[in-house]
Amino acid sequence: MTLDLDQHLIDATNAVAAVGDLDGLQRIEGELLGKSSVVNEARRSLGELEQEARKQAGRRLNEVRTELEKLLAERRVVLEAAERAAVLEAERLDLTEFDRGQRLGHRHVVTQTWERLEDIFVGMGFTVAEGPEIEDEWHNFGALNFPPDHPARDMYDTLYVDYGEPGSTLLRTHTSPVQIRVMESGEPPIYSIMPGRVFRSDTADATHMPVFHQIEGLVVDRRITFGDMAGTMDAFTKAYFGRDFASRLRPSYFPFTEPSAEFDILRDDGSWLELAGCGMVHPNVLEAGGLDPEIWSGFAFGFGLDRLALMRHGIDDLRELFRNDHRFLSQF
Ligand code: DAH
Repeated sequence: MTLDLDQHLIDATNAVAAVGDLDGLQRIEGELLGKSSVVNEARRSLGELEQEARKQAGRRLNEVRTELEKLLAERRVVLEAAERAAVLEAERLDLTEFDRGQRLGHRHVVTQTWERLEDIFVGMGFTVAEGPEIEDEWHNFGALNFPPDHPARDMYDTLYVDYGEPGSTLLRTHTSPVQIRVMESGEPPIYSIMPGRVFRSDTADATHMPVFHQIEGLVVDRRITFGDMAGTMDAFTKAYFGRDFASRLRPSYFPFTEPSAEFDILRDDGSWLELAGCGMVHPNVLEAGGLDPEIWSGFAFGFGLDRLALMRHGIDDLRELFRNDHRFLSQF
């Protein structure tokens, strides 16, 4: 019996070494340690032996069993590691496959436009200011001379935020509320632009998105005139689009400016594209911002930033800017 067990250990060692996967190891474990295994059969026949021989044989059987368990456990560690490595290899993402590291990522075309606009205005002596995207009703409407229930509020499909009194908190519908915040935060002279994200409950189509960008401008100083405004808008357009761009101002209405105008540029096909609203800051708005309209005057404008990007790059669908398709974005 002792000899048999030595041979059994040798056979078992070879069998365990030959097994190539965890399922196979499970099967061999059953054969070596299960009910009808050699060690268990031998244990059952111990009763036939004399007491002393039985003791010895029993001890030997325990040793062999421990030895077999150790063999199996060691092999399991090896096979489990191999299996993990195989899974990792199979699920590996080759991140070098794309572009092969030769082309770097770059800023989104909207961000590029945003930064270019800032550069142009900073070059003209403006500072850059920002305000919150979640606004109160006062800054978005009231301070901008929209009386309560005034029909002009309907020009904006406002998204309200469930916070405070109903209707008191909203996602800003334009960047104009930042004008008020700039006036509140310091004395004129003010020469500021205020770029940012704005929100309206619009259905997305080629010219509308529920989230888009504007760049607001505000100038407040002594004796600012409509001519200063027209000159600034024209200088900006030429800096952004190039020398031979034609623009025009067309009378319009906004509660926060008086007089108000719309700023259009001439497209290749001879049609005019509306790019901005603008006007002389209404005295009520200066007052809401804490400034004395007898001393100060100013002009303001608000451009659609995304539209500027579309125009400059000849893109015909606003939605393309937000789909984030790498093949599209990499062109700019
Ligand atoms: N806030 C206006 C809008 O969202 C745009 C605008 C018009 C801004 C006239 C101005 C302005 O500053 O003077 O449609």
